[in-house]
Amino acid sequence: MKHEYILVVDFGGQYTQLIARCVREAGVYAQIIPCDMAFDCIDTENLKGFILSGGPDSVYDDTSMQITKDILTLQVPILGICYGMQLLAQLSGGEVTKAQVPEFGLTDIFFEQHPLFENMPQMKVWMNHNDRVCTLPATAKIIARTEDCEIAGFADETHKQYGVQFHPEVMHNVKEMKIFENFCRNLCGCTQFWDVEHLSGQLIEEIRQKAAGKKVLCALSGGVDSSVAAVLVHKAIGNDLHCVFVDHGLLRENEAQEVMDFYQQTVGMNITKINAKQRFLSKLMGVTEPEQKRKIIGEEFIRVFEEEAQKLKDIDYLVQGTIYPDVVESGQGKSAVIKSHHNVGGLPSNISFKGLIEPLRLLFKDEVRKLGSSIGIPDKLVWRQPFPGPGLAIRIMGEITEERLELVRRTDAILREEIAKAGLQRAIWQYFTVMTGVQTVGVMGDGRTYEYVIAIRAVTSDDAMTVEFAEIPFPILRKISSRMVNEVNGCSRVVYDITSKPPATIEWE
Ligand code: XMP
Repeated sequence: MKHEYILVVDFGGQYTQLIARCVREAGVYAQIIPCDMAFDCIDTENLKGFILSGGPDSVYDDTSMQITKDILTLQVPILGICYGMQLLAQLSGGEVTKAQVPEFGLTDIFFEQHPLFENMPQMKVWMNHNDRVCTLPATAKIIARTEDCEIAGFADETHKQYGVQFHPEVMHNVKEMKIFENFCRNLCGCTQFWDVEHLSGQLIEEIRQKAAGKKVLCALSGGVDSSVAAVLVHKAIGNDLHCVFVDHGLLRENEAQEVMDFYQQTVGMNITKINAKQRFLSKLMGVTEPEQKRKIIGEEFIRVFEEEAQKLKDIDYLVQGTIYPDVVESGQGKSAVIKSHHNVGGLPSNISFKGLIEPLRLLFKDEVRKLGSSIGIPDKLVWRQPFPGPGLAIRIMGEITEERLELVRRTDAILREEIAKAGLQRAIWQYFTVMTGVQTVGVMGDGRTYEYVIAIRAVTSDDAMTVEFAEIPFPILRKISSRMVNEVNGCSRVVYDITSKPPATIEWE
């Protein structure tokens, strides 16, 4: 039976994915669709409601993003957020204009009694708008106000249309914010409870039906997504799954061994390790430009993987650890390329196969982790911090040599040990060291030294899109710095990167 679900319509807002996550956290399945999706492509079976996202346009501009009026005929409840509310009001005969006083940031709001606000106190909400609804559709009434915005929320019970000018999704960590739960349960009448942990049986069965008795290939990196995807496929089809682990020599200390031990001994997978370190290092010799490094590693990875696949012959399916944000982002394709991310599961062009198996393509990262735990993948792997496909190569400024790799690898291991001892692993999104390539003067014993500066990068984040530098306590930083300088040859100075993203990125290259 198909689950009840909510469709989130994307108008290019920064927080659209967050809306879908909030709905799923409220126990109702949600999917995102682009606003220009054709009406007859919308699957209405068990569809319980729509949420229209925010967006950068003004609804009264000729070129603004729109949605077909046909959705109003479906008789399912609609909640508009910010731009979504303005568009909904306009579609139903209301009017929108420029606000005399734009509102940004946390703002006091007054809620009327309404099922949308059940169990919510009068509170501050997050505003971000230049336009406002100035005239309501004929059958709508005001249900929320702020000092500068008379219509900060409306309800049209006749047509089951609701709007809020603020962004409830931005306050997803605030426990009083119950709008998504209230919308789904009180207004859309959702009764089922959706939970990713109950999904594994269904996913495994789907894979079994598609691929049992077929030859399936998977490139494993040890990352969370590819691990969870591979373990699911392994549970479905056992040794029909052939895994390849390419060790490009740019991994962290002991990582290759740990990854192999897990897949081979704990899971019992059919896995081949390719030791390609020399191949990668010789291709990278003398290369200093970051994009060039990524390109070489990406291409070489595919070549090695292809060679291995040729040996298997006649592959039916390729497993990929694609997750929902990848699907949504690749569908939008409007954002500028800041860095060309090399995905270790990238599609090789020379291997022929019938199709892809992407069991996680509808799940967010936190859901993948939950699912991973529920199928017995150990915490160490499930909570592994994100690690880029090009590995340590993009954490070494300038040329990559064995000596520089060793420096970054050893200092990174010390950092990880100390963060683990301090119990901070889950509080920090990513933490690693960077070999800056800069040498400075120091003094050790009675002698002058001229050695490398190592930088520590540690950030907190929910999704890697925006980050703050992590506030690691000074005594821990002192210990880390002292260990690095004392234990690692070639490192005489340690600095701490205190930049957020934007304007910096997480990785240095
Ligand atoms: P940036 O540096 O763009 O990184 O702020 C955002 C997140 O992506 C990871 N990252 C990569 N992951 N291939 C990957 O698979 C790559 O080329 C790549 N570059 C960055 C980075 O570690 C962070 O989690």
